[in-house]
Amino acid sequence: MRHALVTGGAGFIGSHLVQALLVEGWRVRVLDDFSSGRRENLAVVGGEVEVCEGDVRDVAACRRAVTGVEVVFHQAAIPSVPRSVADPVGTHAVNLTGTVQLLTAAREAGVRRLVFASSSAIYGDDPELPKRETLPPAPMSPYAAQKLGSENYLRVFAALRSLETVALRYFNVFGPRQDPASEYAAVIPKFVTRMLRGQAPTIYGDGRQTRDFIFAGEVARANVLAATAPAASGQVVNVAGGKRIDLLALVDTLNGVLGTSLAPVFAPAQAGDVRDSVADITRAREVLGFEPRVSFADGLRETVAWYRQAMAAAGDDHPA
Ligand SMILES: NC(=O)c1ccc[n+]([C@@H]2O[C@H](COP(=O)([O-])OP(=O)(O)OC[C@H]3O[C@@H](n4cnc5c(N)ncnc54)[C@H](O)[C@@H]3O)[C@@H](O)[C@H]2O)c1
Repeated sequence: MRHALVTGGAGFIGSHLVQALLVEGWRVRVLDDFSSGRRENLAVVGGEVEVCEGDVRDVAACRRAVTGVEVVFHQAAIPSVPRSVADPVGTHAVNLTGTVQLLTAAREAGVRRLVFASSSAIYGDDPELPKRETLPPAPMSPYAAQKLGSENYLRVFAALRSLETVALRYFNVFGPRQDPASEYAAVIPKFVTRMLRGQAPTIYGDGRQTRDFIFAGEVARANVLAATAPAASGQVVNVAGGKRIDLLALVDTLNGVLGTSLAPVFAPAQAGDVRDSVADITRAREVLGFEPRVSFADGLRETVAWYRQAMAAAGDDHPA
């Protein structure tokens, strides 16, 4: 049986990946310090998971976690741009030193491949669209610099033939189990939870700003493909839906899913917000054989159903 380690497996994306790996018949171990991840996220994935509570900054924890593993999926991070601005050194330790620590432990243990959760934040506010992997990186935050630094280490480890590595640049991921209180890319959980309470969503700016949203289950599928795709080693690959969706369209689709007609409230645009984002997903198609399958509306339907249930279980209002 193939054996995988998912770091950050108790988190939002990590738990979807654990679920996808179990469905594909992998044996799964999780390394997580539960700083933002939750045990409940693993309780619902439907299979047996070995949980190692530990920190990617701790060399002994990394060594124990990679033992006997064929593929490492490195999702653990402090995934917050504002936190990285407030604490560059602390976030660097987790987001960059943690990656080097894990790469080193994986090399020593004879792991075949490491697949890394990188980010579209690396593209910064370069106006060129769509974002291709060949664009020069332009990080605008410590978080983006830490993801880019991690990508560079992955490339070096692959070049030295220490192990195979693949960096997946996720765009705006959404789906069940995403924390509505998280500061990172949280427009969908914020809008869904507000609109489920019958409250208007707040749009900063004119609502014509665009994002490339991708359903968490799709990101999990891209990871599983990246574990085995023969030409993927040493590569950086965008993982996105490949479609530009503006915030007004998001509110419209949500009103359709919820059966509501809530109009957004507009507030001044936030400084530093990227205006437009859309990925070129040609490389994902060619290198991973990845083709998005879940439509935006279907992904939102599943997401809304999950929040509706979670809010009801928490005794929260949900009049919509
Ligand atoms: N959500 C997005 O839209 C998005 C976009 C681009 C990239 N990413 C990346 O995807 C990955 C997963 O993000 P997410 O949205 O699921 O966030 P999340 O906060 O739900 O998951 C991160 C997980 O890492 C764990 N973790 C944090 N620090 C750790 C440490 N020192 N040692 C061990 N575990 C630790 C947390 O407990 C959590 O379970 C991150 O690397 C993030 O940077 C996310």
